[in-house]
Amino acid sequence: MGELDRGAEVEAFRRAAHALVNGVADYLAALPSRPVWQPLPGELRERLLDLPLPERAASLDDLVATALRDVLPHAMGNGHPAFFGWVNPPPSPAGVAASLAAAAMNPSVVAGDHADVHLERSVVRWLAELVGFPYAPGGGLLTSGGSAATIVCLAGARGRALSAVGHDVRRDGLAGAPRLVAYVPTEAHSCVRRALELLGLGSRALREVPLDAGRLDAAALRAAIAADRASGAVPALLVGSAGTVNAGAIDPLDALADVATAERLWFHVDGAYGAFGVLDPAIAHRFRGMERADSLVLDPHKWLGVPVDAGCALVRRGDDLRDAFSLIPPYLRQDTDSPVGTFAEYGPEQTRPFRALKTWATIAARGRAGLAAQVASANRLARELATRVEREPELELAAPPETSIVAFRARPAGCPPSRLDGLNQALPEAVQARGRAFLTGTVLDGRETLRACILHPDTGSRHLAILVSEVVATARELAG
Ligand SMILES: Cc1ncc(COP(=O)(O)O)c(C=O)c1O
Repeated sequence: MGELDRGAEVEAFRRAAHALVNGVADYLAALPSRPVWQPLPGELRERLLDLPLPERAASLDDLVATALRDVLPHAMGNGHPAFFGWVNPPPSPAGVAASLAAAAMNPSVVAGDHADVHLERSVVRWLAELVGFPYAPGGGLLTSGGSAATIVCLAGARGRALSAVGHDVRRDGLAGAPRLVAYVPTEAHSCVRRALELLGLGSRALREVPLDAGRLDAAALRAAIAADRASGAVPALLVGSAGTVNAGAIDPLDALADVATAERLWFHVDGAYGAFGVLDPAIAHRFRGMERADSLVLDPHKWLGVPVDAGCALVRRGDDLRDAFSLIPPYLRQDTDSPVGTFAEYGPEQTRPFRALKTWATIAARGRAGLAAQVASANRLARELATRVEREPELELAAPPETSIVAFRARPAGCPPSRLDGLNQALPEAVQARGRAFLTGTVLDGRETLRACILHPDTGSRHLAILVSEVVATARELAG
């Protein structure tokens, strides 16, 4: 491409990108007045599924027009303040803008003297500082999300446990290795089990730790650990959640850390959803013990609202990750005299996207105080929603909220108890289809349960009122 063509291409980009930014701003402005979510029109779904591979180039102007017409209006719904599904916030506007600039730079964030590398190191330190986790250079990196960060952390745990018994898992794999055991509370996110399976420990390595009303029976846990040791297995890992996905419950992290210390287990805390809850002074004390973890998973793309993807793995000793992942073939040697290795030495990714710019922008645009206010407001709204649920005779609270997730159930008048589980299972999709509020379901304590996760900075009391009235009306409809 000649210089002239290149100049024309950049000018075409400038024009189309301006139109795109205007279209995106219009889209964001219109979101609250639109239905939260709607099924795609059948014709559009077919068209998107059957798109033919284009033979010829399209203009950028046409691509922008198509995206604004056919794609943006048909989103998941998490931009709307009455969206309470899963754990999906709206993106921060600062993060959206930063994503454009990051894509324009398009680095591979591995090593070298370029801004993206240094920014990731600072952003990881900021994340650690936000939640009060000790940070040492090399002790963390951004990942695609909480699930990927969990694999990174548990790979560190596996390596350390096996090297302590003289087994080199990187050289020998798991053949001939002793059986490792992981102690995992019942409500832990499925990504923990998946990581254990992927790392070759198998889900049979997992011992469920019951937390009765959030309390740990440390003596029972230690007895289970002793029994496993006596059987020749190697107890390796203890997991806690700083905010469970089902009900936002904070595990007794300090008590878990005590057991991990006494038994010399790797203590892993899953803070993907809830660790930023520690910014709320009203509940900060509940997170005591999180700072004692060997590894901590955070998800800036959850409560902070960094546009997906942005997860973070933090470890107390960076060398645990370096031992698990570092492999430097000659064609990838970089920064060889640096005491801290390249990012590729601490995780499984080689080419890595520039996740730090949108994370930096999202945090900087609000500051610690702004983020703390947002977190505290979400927790307050969750308590308000719980009160509304308790006041409503056709609803019942499944668990008192500790953070910004409220678990509850519908029990419409006249509905026989035998039908309640089926009704609560069907309810979320029926509510979603009405378009005024969006929530999702789960199973808690063996019962079908509704859960509302509050993460949108613009959610207010009136959205809670809409949610409650939509759930009650839909439940009556289903019961009738
Ligand atoms: C508590 C918890 N841990 C881990 C994850 C997995 O994170 P990700 O979806 O970013 O992989 C989630 C996702 O909702 C979660 O809520």
